[in-house]
Amino acid sequence: MEPKTDSEPPVSVTGLRKSFGEQRVLDGLTFQLDTGKVTCVLGRSGTGKSVLLKLMIGLETPDAGSIRLAGYDISTASPKELNEARMKVGFLFQQSALYDSMTIEENVAFPLRRHTKLSAAERRDRVQQLLVSVGMEKAIAKMPSQISGGMQKRVGLARALALEPAIVMFDEPTAGLDPITAAEIASLIVELRDKRRITSIVVTHDLHTARTIADRLIVLDVGKTLFDGTFGDFNKSEIPFVAQLLKDAA
Ligand SMILES: Nc1ncnc2c1ncn2[C@@H]1O[C@H](COP(=O)(O)OP(=O)(O)OP(=O)(O)O)[C@@H](O)[C@H]1O
Ligand SMILES: [Mg+2]
Repeated sequence: MEPKTDSEPPVSVTGLRKSFGEQRVLDGLTFQLDTGKVTCVLGRSGTGKSVLLKLMIGLETPDAGSIRLAGYDISTASPKELNEARMKVGFLFQQSALYDSMTIEENVAFPLRRHTKLSAAERRDRVQQLLVSVGMEKAIAKMPSQISGGMQKRVGLARALALEPAIVMFDEPTAGLDPITAAEIASLIVELRDKRRITSIVVTHDLHTARTIADRLIVLDVGKTLFDGTFGDFNKSEIPFVAQLLKDAA
């Protein structure tokens, strides 16, 4: 078991490879996340962005390479260590952000029930606070099907923050949202960085959102890093795929 050290990057991926059958999805990917910064990951559909996030929290196993998460080498971690590492990470999935059969309150309380010893009253208070922090306290007694997609993402974010993670991973947090709601989600992500110094990785196709929130951008193509830098560098990049992304978003 390896203790967490403050000098270590919160997430570090080295030489990551992953194939499904004949299809090579990640082909030797290496990067580290910067503490307290927002890193956006862009890339065509099917380039392995969601697979990357799943590998990073141990929901998929790499064919080669290593992943260190919150001080743990997750490819060699015991189930107990993997659980400890995961507790430091909040995750907002691309699909089905919430459990359909639970109320909003039960959804947000879920990780608290599972991983803390809070009493029912303490849990209720904490859920209330979390919902206030994403502006969703009025929906506490509703079912997910009774609120909009943007509201579901907010509640999903409240749930992802329940255990006060140091790292939050977002898979397409603004997909399918109108521009105003997308901007609200984007400002929540920025707030997490500025107020709580949370390190985040945000997979997105939404270049406008990336422009507003990213301290750093990584562009993936054919399983490799095509670009890694700031938005300023991105704007000046002469890499054809980057130029195409910028043109499409203009
Ligand atoms: N469990 C799996 N079994 C087989 N193939 C898979 C599995 N998970 C992902 N893939 C394949 O890996 C590739 C990358 O998938 P992934 O979901 O990571 O793409 P993505 O970059 O997130 O795309 P999008 O932008 O559309 O969300 C796809 O071709 C997908 O079909
Ligand atoms: Mg995806």
